[in-house]
Formats: sequence, C-alpha cells, structure tokens
Amino acid sequence: MSKRKQLIAGNWKMNGSLAANEALVGELLAGVGQPACDVVVCPPGVYLGQLQRLLTGSPIELGAQNVSTHDNGAFTGDVSADMLKDFGVRYAIVGHSERRQHQAESDVHVAIKAKRALAAGITPIVCVGETLREREEGMTDFIVKRQLAAVIHLNGHCVSEIVVAYEPVWAIGTGKTATPEQAQAVHAVLRAQLKAATEHADRVRILYGGSMNAANAAELLAQPDIDGGLIGGAALKSADFLKIVSAAQ
Ligand code: 13P
Repeated sequence: MSKRKQLIAGNWKMNGSLAANEALVGELLAGVGQPACDVVVCPPGVYLGQLQRLLTGSPIELGAQNVSTHDNGAFTGDVSADMLKDFGVRYAIVGHSERRQHQAESDVHVAIKAKRALAAGITPIVCVGETLREREEGMTDFIVKRQLAAVIHLNGHCVSEIVVAYEPVWAIGTGKTATPEQAQAVHAVLRAQLKAATEHADRVRILYGGSMNAANAAELLAQPDIDGGLIGGAALKSADFLKIVSAAQ
C-alpha cells in the first residue's frame, strides 16, 4: 500500500453541460463525505467558473484539462496558468495522450506546460504512456521514461511537486485495464527515474489511468507505487466515481 495520500482525479474530457455538471456535482457532494484521499474533478475549461462556484468549501478540488505553454499575449484560444489560478484551479492535466495525438503536443510542450503550471502554483498532472504497438515492441519503459525525462530536464528538482499519471494508451476508453502487476511495474520504473532526479521522489504521487472503474480500482490502488487514479468514463457516473474514491486511502 502506498505511503502517500492518494489522489483520485476525474477527467471529464469534452463532456458535460451546465445542467449535467450541476447534477453530477450535486450527486458527488451528497455522497463524498470526508474522503480519505484527495479528490479533484477536471471539467472542460468553459465550465471552470461554474465548477468553482459549485465546489467552493467542499472537499472536492478543481482541475483543468490543459494549460498554455505561454504566459499571456497573442495566443488565440489559449488559457494561461494564471487565468486558471484565477478560477481556483489546483491541478492541471498536461500531456494527456489525446492531446499528444490530436494536438501534436510534444514532450517539450508538455514539459513547458508543467513549468507554467508550477510557476502559477498549480500542480501539473503529467501524463505518460505507451501505445499498444510500443508495448508489443517492448518499448514501454523507453517511451514513458523519455516522456518523463523531458519534464525532469526542464523542471529540475521542482519535479518533486508534480503528479505523474501513467496512462497506457491501449487502456484508455477501451475497457482493457492494465493488470495491477503491469501497472505497478511501470510505476516502479517511473519512481526510480524520479529518485535519480530528486531526493523527494517518495512523495511524488503516480496515478494510474485507463479503464479504471469501481470494480478494479481497489486492486490497482493496493499496489505500492500506485498513488491514485486518473479516471475518464467512470468519472461521469457519480456512483462509480464515489466507489473509486472510497477504495482510495
Ligand atoms: P478512461 O477511464 O475512460 O479509460 O479514460 C482514462 C483517461 O484518459 C483519463 O485521463
């Protein structure tokens, strides 16, 4: 069992509406009680103001799904870390595989985003993970280490302040979860890499993401280096998300 306070983060991706968000948050707040773990939800950016209003004073924190690589200026469509901070955002997902794939985000972009978030006092949740083909070719460790190395290189000892999320691309939205042993093996590789970069690697939380659900969460969260979950589909169903929260420490 992990030595760290676990973190359960809901990534709503591009889902929701004013009405649906209000209903979902209402159900979450009615059931969450005093959670043993940290809990955060990451709605689409346009709803951060609504969620800030709904969550203020509650045990559920607010996260963003992305942050700009820039501070401010002529970057149409971008939202800066300081702007997110204005809305009470505590965490920002950076480098999700869907953005790496569809928005051509490189390892260097992801590293800069993590740096911008840290500078604004926002904890970046840095996503890493291999595709099915990369796993089949035996490249998993190489890929995740390359992705994390860029963040370490740019952020130095500040990496002790980040959260890492291992999300195998083949497990996202597919119902194919990594086994606890497969996930733990990669988490151990990431922990060792962090240890070489900071003496505080033991306090960095490494989340698992990819078809985590109410039925498989407890077994994954029991692994020594799995410190929480980054939840997609199951974060949109209050009963499922709350069961995952209850399974965490
Ligand atoms: P699913 O839980 O839907 O597989 O999504 C995982 C994910 O991508 C969270 O960021």
